[in-house]
Amino acid sequence: MPDATTTMHLDKGLDNTVIGESTKSFIDGQQGVLEYVGIDIDDLARHSTFEEVVFLLWNDRLPTSEELAAFESELRAEYGLSDYMLQALAAIPADASPMHVVRTMVSTLALEDPDCNDQSYESERRKAVRALAKTPAIIAGFDRIRRGLEVVEERSDLNMASNFLWMLNGEMPGEASARAIDVCLILHADHGINASTFAAMVTIATQSDMYSSLTSAIGTLRGPLHGGANERVMHMLQSIGGIDEVEPFVMDCLTNKKKIMGFGHRVYKALDPRAKYLKTFAERIAEETGNRDLFVLSTTIQDVMDREVGAKGIHPNVDFYSATTYFSLGLAIDLFTPVFAMSRNAGWAAHTLEQHQDNRLIRPRCQYTGEHGASYVPIDQR
Ligand code: CMC
Repeated sequence: MPDATTTMHLDKGLDNTVIGESTKSFIDGQQGVLEYVGIDIDDLARHSTFEEVVFLLWNDRLPTSEELAAFESELRAEYGLSDYMLQALAAIPADASPMHVVRTMVSTLALEDPDCNDQSYESERRKAVRALAKTPAIIAGFDRIRRGLEVVEERSDLNMASNFLWMLNGEMPGEASARAIDVCLILHADHGINASTFAAMVTIATQSDMYSSLTSAIGTLRGPLHGGANERVMHMLQSIGGIDEVEPFVMDCLTNKKKIMGFGHRVYKALDPRAKYLKTFAERIAEETGNRDLFVLSTTIQDVMDREVGAKGIHPNVDFYSATTYFSLGLAIDLFTPVFAMSRNAGWAAHTLEQHQDNRLIRPRCQYTGEHGASYVPIDQR
């Protein structure tokens, strides 16, 4: 029975569908370019800070020093968790997956927000500040509780990257580690309408709220085809015994159509510019922390992949070298994707606020391929 959908363009996976306009990030997948509000990612990674990048994404321009200081103060005032949130964290089973914890706890923030149902732009922005500022405390707090350690109180004299490491480890991070996390947060902050950002936009487009958008996005990010790939990369690296095993491992995967985690991208057919930056970074941090073998293993995988499938446009993506970087920085493997979420909160909120200002319900169609005219058979006759 034909209906309107039979004449519509079917685009499974939305590979060729532009769902709207945005001023947040630009990706040229053929040239390997990524810009946030027109500024090259490499420039931002070298010169900016995560807080400045968040301001840029939310305001479409760089802040003055007064504006940046005011924004940092606004975030720092929200670093801590209430007793209610801490009790909720403590009630979570210690073996829970941290991404489930982050999703649940960001959702829980709504329960103690008196303005939860205020749908003004200002209110949604304020919710975004709360969620962004408190996610590091959620991740660090859960990790300490599951390790049987005391939760460390936030330090509002530190930036987000340093405060996160402080709350995680209970000691002041070195300058190099803090800057490494800061740069990783910059590199992961936004990336067009990727799967999780799309989930956030679909949610706010129903006139739901920022917490619901972020919760949808976190649940979407955790999949291994998206942000969950960084943890899978690390498990893959650990499963390969040594350099000599790389070639047979990669060839076996390619022959049997198994994906090599951390490679390939829906948009980039040239090298992901974030991977280019992270590779240099991973090398330096791995050297400094005695993890050079891990870096060499990674580059050997890349060499074999370049030779075998580079011509098909399959190159390392952001998750490949971020795994070596996070591991060398001493992060538990199951915190890799939560750290991605901690950063991407910025982009999710930017697109959620953008959608909120010029909203249209996102409601695609599918082509029905099932039966028509089937009769209802009573249960005792089936
Ligand atoms: N290893 C081996 N082959 C690959 C890979 C890979 N990682 N990625 C793509 N291919 C091959 C795939 O087998 C297919 O080959 P053929 O045409 O011969 O059937 C071809 O490339 C196209 O693959 P696809 O899966 O149809 O392409 P896609 O646009 O749907 O895939 C992707 C994008 C990211 C899902 C995919 O590359 C993948 O699964 N990569 C591994 C997981 C990963 O690293 N994800 C992180 C993505 S980037 C960070 C983020 O967004 O969070």
